[in-house]
Amino acid sequence: MSESLDIVRTKADLRARVRYWRDQGLNVAFVPTMGALHEGHLTLVRAGLEMADRVVASVFVNPTQFGPNEDFSRYPRQEELDAALLAGAGCHLLYAPSVEEMYPPGFATTISVGGVSEGLCGDVRPGHFDGVATVVTKLLLQAQPHVALFGEKDWQQLAVIRRLVRDLDVPVDVAGVPTVREADGLAKSSRNAYLSASERAIAPVLYQVLNHIAEGLRQGGVAADLCAQGRARILEAGFISVDYLEARGADGLEPLERLDRPARILVAARLAGARLIDNLAVEPGHA
Ligand code: PAF
Repeated sequence: MSESLDIVRTKADLRARVRYWRDQGLNVAFVPTMGALHEGHLTLVRAGLEMADRVVASVFVNPTQFGPNEDFSRYPRQEELDAALLAGAGCHLLYAPSVEEMYPPGFATTISVGGVSEGLCGDVRPGHFDGVATVVTKLLLQAQPHVALFGEKDWQQLAVIRRLVRDLDVPVDVAGVPTVREADGLAKSSRNAYLSASERAIAPVLYQVLNHIAEGLRQGGVAADLCAQGRARILEAGFISVDYLEARGADGLEPLERLDRPARILVAARLAGARLIDNLAVEPGHA
């Protein structure tokens, strides 16, 4: 059984709680989220419980990672339900700061990560990864956990966070946790809530296309050709547009032609009012 879930709203209270645990020799895991929690987030909490003695989650819908025409104001917010879900998963503490606590008047610093932030979501959502990098750096410095867990569904985000933690010598281990999927393969996402029943029926085509490209790459196919076919299939299924569908090197996210190293196929596509992203690992030599 979990202990009861306390909620703290200031960095001072968060630090005091984590310091208390650290002083007792306990390891602390941290799961940053934007709320609207689903099984994917709870899997992060459970993975945190395997790695550490205490798990802290944060819920903060970070305004700086949304573009002016994105879904910040309509992003689902459900703190009470999120707190209950976290408690049920065994989480020990919820950090739910206000926007003013995170960005007090006069706030003027941005963390910008080069290389892995460029291309893919970095092209389609200008400024997004600066917002993510800045808030994640702040959250890690505020919480000072031993390990921080992030979902692999946001593969490029994970690469950006790994890079900034290495580059800025942030004393934390970063753990990526595999994507949790619905029975039909659709990656769990808070944004799936935007889909109508008929859109929801179309959405799994993304995962099917990723698998098809992975198979083609394993058989020696050319990434650009396979991705062009995949793009056409996504549009035929009823998506409005495909922001990108690309095969990249798994760690550095460099473009690749054929499967000559561990790779990741990444996609972002718009289905009615929802922008869905997903990705799949593909390893050479497993034909
Ligand atoms: O993946 C998310 O939910 C967010 O980008 C994160 C890492 C919590 C930063 O706001």
